[in-house]
Amino acid sequence: MNIYGWIKAFHIIAVIAWMAGMLYLPRLLVYHCAAEKGSVQSETFKVMEHRLLRAIINPAMIATWVFGLWLAWLGPDSNLGWFASGWLQAKLAFVVILSALHGLFARWVKDFAADRNRNSQKFYRIINEIPTVLMIVIVILVVLKPF
Ligand code: HEM
Repeated sequence: MNIYGWIKAFHIIAVIAWMAGMLYLPRLLVYHCAAEKGSVQSETFKVMEHRLLRAIINPAMIATWVFGLWLAWLGPDSNLGWFASGWLQAKLAFVVILSALHGLFARWVKDFAADRNRNSQKFYRIINEIPTVLMIVIVILVVLKPF
């Protein structure tokens, strides 16, 4: 059985779910900014953000890390797996930034839940672009393995 192929398939499935959430959540925060505190819309956004984070983004991030590190450990070098490769080291640096951004999203969702958002709509519009840029860089690194 091609164990490596199976792990990679589950890694990619987890990546898709994580990225779907990471691309959609800041969009929700942009719209949430425009909703009046205490309004029906605002309360609906709170539920949507909470569920997206808890049911999709958090478990998908954990699964991405578990399957990704497993693949890295199974890589071509018998001792270091893929860890000796420059592309993986660079990829890991960008994934750590993506994971830190995930942590910030969770904090902002908490702030909104308590009606204590401190950021502007423009702020979330700019933040919204960061996961896209990180995803492009990460995919190019892993597929092309330029170094
Ligand atoms: C969480 C830490 C991560 C680790 C340790 C990791 C590690 C790996 C490794 C070792 C492979 C196998 C490469 C190969 O067999 O050629 C792989 C495949 C892949 N990873 Fe990740 N990865 C992580 C996160 C991500 C993220 C966040 C993305 C996208 C945004 C991503 C996208 C992919 C894709 C598309 C492949 C398949 C590449 C191919 O088969 O050509 N990974 N990953």
